[in-house]
Amino acid sequence: MNTVAAPLENGFCNGNDEGVVSAKRIKLGPQQANESCKPTKPAAAAAVNANGHPTAKSTERRKSATACSSENFRVAENGHQDVNNEEKDHPTSSAALIRRNQDGEISDGYLTTDDWKTKWERGKTKFHKTQVHGMLKKHYQRLVQGRDAPRFLVPLCGKTLDMIWLLEQGCGVVGCDVVELGVQQFFVENKLEYTTETLKDIDGTVYKGKDEDITIYCADFFKLSSALIGQFDCIWDRGSMAAINPSDRKRYCDVISDVLKPDSRYLLDIFEVPHDVFSGPPHNIDPEEITQLFGDVCRVEQLEHVDAMNPWSKTWGVAYFYENNFLLTRKK
Ligand SMILES: C[S@@+](CC[C@H](N)C(=O)[O-])C[C@H]1O[C@@H](n2cnc3c(N)ncnc32)[C@H](O)[C@@H]1O
Repeated sequence: MNTVAAPLENGFCNGNDEGVVSAKRIKLGPQQANESCKPTKPAAAAAVNANGHPTAKSTERRKSATACSSENFRVAENGHQDVNNEEKDHPTSSAALIRRNQDGEISDGYLTTDDWKTKWERGKTKFHKTQVHGMLKKHYQRLVQGRDAPRFLVPLCGKTLDMIWLLEQGCGVVGCDVVELGVQQFFVENKLEYTTETLKDIDGTVYKGKDEDITIYCADFFKLSSALIGQFDCIWDRGSMAAINPSDRKRYCDVISDVLKPDSRYLLDIFEVPHDVFSGPPHNIDPEEITQLFGDVCRVEQLEHVDAMNPWSKTWGVAYFYENNFLLTRKK
């Protein structure tokens, strides 16, 4: 596994191969001054063992930082953080701690599918990268295992150019995104002609490329199943599991497991990030949680642990931002 301090990029992960080996120490910004819920010291958070995995101690510290933040938020029945406006304007108690999202807006990080639609309508899509993701390119051969024209799933795809690159490699590509605007932008911006069909079994529309082997389900990912979309040789997951509400992870894992063929491979890109002042997404995912979620159905291997701090993530006021890459192989 590589531990790399990667150069800076404008996306919420850098995924760049050309990093400086050894983890970078990150200075605390002024927003970390909150004494009641201080994040872990960056140097402690950066502790990794010889394999590049975070040490048990550093994981514990991160957990306590996360726990500290969640204890200070009441959660309303709709899943949102319950902070009334008076507390927002005049914080008087620890329950009034305010967190912000990637765009600097007050947010508890819980997003409904309508919230994602609003993001797309307002052009709050800075997560979209203008280059193909370095981790996908770097680990592509291990992902496809020499398969000819593998069938790829890109969950929560947005309009990622990774799908174009996969088409160029000769893959069949299936994406899913709940926001129609993003799906349409993907086809229009890449000058791909398409047809549309209303789905019969679930709410949504399927977009199919006319001349390219690409299909995008404009639907709620949690409604998909192998009965509807078939099974896949490979899955590429960037900004997908990291973006869903943490309470949906088990459901997400169930859909992924259902659509993986025996011996298929799943490349997963996730983050470690404190949530004391930053609400996410991306949401923090402990590396251990991947084995807990997928260990029964997949062999789990961590490929990378990368310091992914970049100019954008610095503006979130986070003390650290690590990117972890996993390769999961579906057991037979
Ligand atoms: C952080 S973005 C990442 C997009 C893409 N993977 C990329 O790398 O650019 C998350 C995407 O998930 C979509 N999304 C959120 N919830 C969804 C759901 N339940 N089903 C399908 N798509 C969803 C959003 O519309 C958004 O485009």
